[in-house]
Amino acid sequence: MATIASVTADWVLDSRAVPTVEATVTLSDGRYAFAQAPSGASTGVHESLELRDTHSRRFSGRGVLGAVASVRQEISVALTGMDATDQIALDQRLVSLDGTEDRSHLGANAMVAVSAACARAGALVNETPLWAHLAGSRKATLPLPMVNLFSGNLHARGGMTIQDVLVVPFAAPDLVTSIEWVHDIYHAAKELLAGRGASTLVGDEGGFGAPSSSSEECIALACDAIALAGREAGAEVGIALDVAATHMIQSDGNYVLDGVSMSSAQLVATMARWQTDYPIVSIEDPLAEDDWDGWQLAAIAFKTGVQLLGDDLLCTHLDRLERAASLGCANAVLVKANQIGTLSEALAVADRSRELGMRAVVSARSGETEDDWLADLAVASGAGQIKVGSVARSERLAKYNRLLRIARGADSPRWSGSNGFGNAALGVR
Ligand code: PGA
Ligand code: ZN
Repeated sequence: MATIASVTADWVLDSRAVPTVEATVTLSDGRYAFAQAPSGASTGVHESLELRDTHSRRFSGRGVLGAVASVRQEISVALTGMDATDQIALDQRLVSLDGTEDRSHLGANAMVAVSAACARAGALVNETPLWAHLAGSRKATLPLPMVNLFSGNLHARGGMTIQDVLVVPFAAPDLVTSIEWVHDIYHAAKELLAGRGASTLVGDEGGFGAPSSSSEECIALACDAIALAGREAGAEVGIALDVAATHMIQSDGNYVLDGVSMSSAQLVATMARWQTDYPIVSIEDPLAEDDWDGWQLAAIAFKTGVQLLGDDLLCTHLDRLERAASLGCANAVLVKANQIGTLSEALAVADRSRELGMRAVVSARSGETEDDWLADLAVASGAGQIKVGSVARSERLAKYNRLLRIARGADSPRWSGSNGFGNAALGVR
């Protein structure tokens, strides 16, 4: 059995031209595997920390030489000689070596790159696809994509204040068809924008920069794009929102939505109205990361069946997931491996959400690379949903194209299907 002979790392640039960590694991038989760390912009305060060279003027203080040093020194020594196929033991070793709550010693960017590179090395040794290696005894599935169409706020400045309007092709019969539908909707949206004389430039996740400073108008335009693509909004394709309200809250606890200041209750009422007017199947971060009371209001006011998805609220942390479940404030968790640190911990959050009767959506970050391990993680988790941005920009396509390859493979896992979103979208316009 090949064991880990060494681990090294260096910096590469991500999709926003910001340095990130690439880790390489070399096996005792000479084979090697590497992986790259993603990086968020719309980050939550409860996320594990990226180690950045804030003291240095190089890369405006965003260099990752400290994280690279973590890998080359401490991590390499700690993992050398370990069984490359035992992902849980490898990740536990990383966690105990770090020894902090917020992963500030090694850096979550160093940890996630090493964790993913180890997984690839383990898959090599086992001669299995990465998704099958990570799945272990889990029931892997081909996830339903939640695809970015319009972006605002931290992902594309200048338009609406909610962060993303997305489409969910929930009635597609299989993954390949779901991507075809999304292609049609994306290009229909481009046509609509061009027809209005609006910009068709894309934001960090490949979605079009929001064509209006009214979030509601962007939602309506997404419905028009679905119709122009020949699909029925509500019956075949739903709308998802990432409100990212953590970035809309003011110091007085009020939120500013498209220039209008409002309380949690007013914001919740606005979004509840959107749910009666548009075929919304999922709302992410409708309230800020610590507005637990607001989240409870949302859980009461939102339409039954609508996915109430916690990103900044939960930060892929088990303790926050447990709290949300006991308060009944979210019914789904966004899973981002670098919000916690390792792939095993991210998978554990998805597993626990299932036990709690919640859903999970495995997600990329707005800063990504050409690496595609996220697609395998989503399949392995059995979560049934994936969110990696739009069907543009190669760092996004790397994941979609990997999903297509997995779907076309000999032992392709089953399609997760609609996730019950048909019911959530029923009875709307
Ligand atoms: P981030 O945003 O990667 O910039 O944090 C993605 C999201 O909010 O879902
Ligand atoms: Zn989010």
